[in-house]
Amino acid sequence: MSVNDNGFIDPEDIGSNPSTEPSIGELIDRRLNRRDALRGLVAIGATAAVLSDFAGSPAAAQEAGPSTLTFKEISHTLDATQHVPDGYEAQILIRWGDPVTPGAPAFEPASQTAAAQEKQFGYNNDYIGLHPLPLGGRGGDRFLMVVNHEYVNPRLMFAGHTVSTKAQSEVEMAAVGGSVIEIVREGTAWKVVDGSKYARRISVNTPMAFSGAAAGHDLLKTSTDPDGRKVFGTLNNCAGGSTPWGTWLTCEENFNAFFGGDASKLPDPAAQKRYGVGRAAGYNWWRHIDRFDLGKEPNEPNRFGWVVEIDPYDPGSTPVKRTALGRFKHEGCTHALAKDGRVVFYSGDDERFDYVYKFVTSKPWEPADRAANRNLLDDGTLYAARFNDDGKTEWLPLVQGQGPLTADNGFATQADVLIKTRLAADLLKATPMDRPEDIETNPANGRVYVVLTNNGSRKAGQVDKANPRATNAHGHIIEITPKDGDHASTESTWSIYLLAGKPGQDSGARYHRATSANGWLSCPDNIAFDGKGRIWIATDGAPKAAGVADGVYAADTAGFGRGLTRLFYQAPTGAEVCGPIFTPADTTFFLAVQHPGEDAGSTFEKPSTRWPDFKDGMPPRPAVVAITKKDGGAIGS
Ligand code: FEO
Ligand code: CA
Ligand code: CA
Ligand code: CA
Repeated sequence: MSVNDNGFIDPEDIGSNPSTEPSIGELIDRRLNRRDALRGLVAIGATAAVLSDFAGSPAAAQEAGPSTLTFKEISHTLDATQHVPDGYEAQILIRWGDPVTPGAPAFEPASQTAAAQEKQFGYNNDYIGLHPLPLGGRGGDRFLMVVNHEYVNPRLMFAGHTVSTKAQSEVEMAAVGGSVIEIVREGTAWKVVDGSKYARRISVNTPMAFSGAAAGHDLLKTSTDPDGRKVFGTLNNCAGGSTPWGTWLTCEENFNAFFGGDASKLPDPAAQKRYGVGRAAGYNWWRHIDRFDLGKEPNEPNRFGWVVEIDPYDPGSTPVKRTALGRFKHEGCTHALAKDGRVVFYSGDDERFDYVYKFVTSKPWEPADRAANRNLLDDGTLYAARFNDDGKTEWLPLVQGQGPLTADNGFATQADVLIKTRLAADLLKATPMDRPEDIETNPANGRVYVVLTNNGSRKAGQVDKANPRATNAHGHIIEITPKDGDHASTESTWSIYLLAGKPGQDSGARYHRATSANGWLSCPDNIAFDGKGRIWIATDGAPKAAGVADGVYAADTAGFGRGLTRLFYQAPTGAEVCGPIFTPADTTFFLAVQHPGEDAGSTFEKPSTRWPDFKDGMPPRPAVVAITKKDGGAIGS
């Protein structure tokens, strides 16, 4: 666990895969200069005409140029508030502390309690999902919105905070997890439906079940759960996804940061080390709550790092941790359909030098029988990706008994493979990536976009064509084309869509020739595609020194504007932008603005911004924003 430059705990900047030292042969194979990297980019997936528009430095700022995006690009800024282009507006839909479930008290930040927080919107909103109402409808004007609450910033949440007390830790525990709210559009405004029967808060206290091959395994058993089948709650819920049958997948990412205490007696120390368990805790929960104390409950961390399936249409349902999808620091989990109706889920493990995965269900889903899909996620094959320098991707099955995944190597059962997924993927020689964040399929071309946010630790001898830059401070985006258009295929090809950074300043940054001085970006994280297949890239880690806040950049993925990123949205200072998602017909674009005010020296009393309320005494509040076009038209068109 590290503390970042701003003095805040940085749950995104921890650990690394120690098994990434390349062999001599690999070093020879990988001797790669920038030209080779570009050749890799040129080789696959784009026409020569489009590629000729890529250049190393931006032209002067200009209007849309060859881009199909019509909005007037905004300027890079770094200030207390958010910015959208002329002709657009951004409403605050819901903020930390707003009521979610019936009887939620008004938000009183100076005297917040855990009981209140369990009924109010949680902290640090990340993933946003939209589930149409009614179920199965198109949901033009009414949705269940599901939102993840990733982590907490005690210094901005509590007056006079130093080290979290038990009462403060309990507020923090109630502030993570997720929320289900019902939203409705009235005219051009979106509002949260008061008293909705669907409204629900999920926290690290919510009872949940394990299912799949790892359920009931000894490594999941604790003093309160001797069967290893029940667990309280979910935490560090970063991005997520949905299923075709309308459930919500919320992903447990940097779970290790929440555990502390004596790590000397942890079972299987090599595995715990690989997951970063036993490093200094980022939070104080373990001093107050026994299950987060590694000396008292050494198996509790094995119960996190999973994908959790929640049915938002049934507020009384028990969330289920689906162990078949493996245990790692899941950024998100997004689905695509295989040609035969099986469902494929892509998920990145967001750590430096960790892997890209996909899970393919054994059976097709049943569109006409929702109940038949209830346990579809318990049975299937998990794969890790190897990105070869020849532009091919191999998907390597994580199946006990196959290849090196044997009892002799510590994998006696499939449960071992699932609980220690990272170690299994190490043995299969998956490709260590530059921090895989969001992975999404572009509905317009069927390609899969893998967002790699950065990796400052990659050394010159560790570059490969899929991770072509040493000390990759700004990240890149890879485009995967499944073989024969089938997401279940174990083969695909890949190319690089974009290499981020400031053109002319950051080594290897590559943009379209017409990219303006405001159009370059750093640290891509979550993405969305609009109905025309254009990519909208939300960032986390913009270079403040360059006077740039995190924001959203949009670009074509085809035609002459391919790769021409244009700045659409800038967040208030300290915030990252998460959860981008469009309503049908692209008339509203929702964003989750996470950790506003997370700046050096920023505290509850003296925050760097009081966005979005700007009221004395009110700290900054993570919030979901609804962006619409003033004329009611489609965003970006
Ligand atoms: Fe929580 Fe990888 O972002
Ligand atoms: Ca985040
Ligand atoms: Ca993220
Ligand atoms: Ca991130």
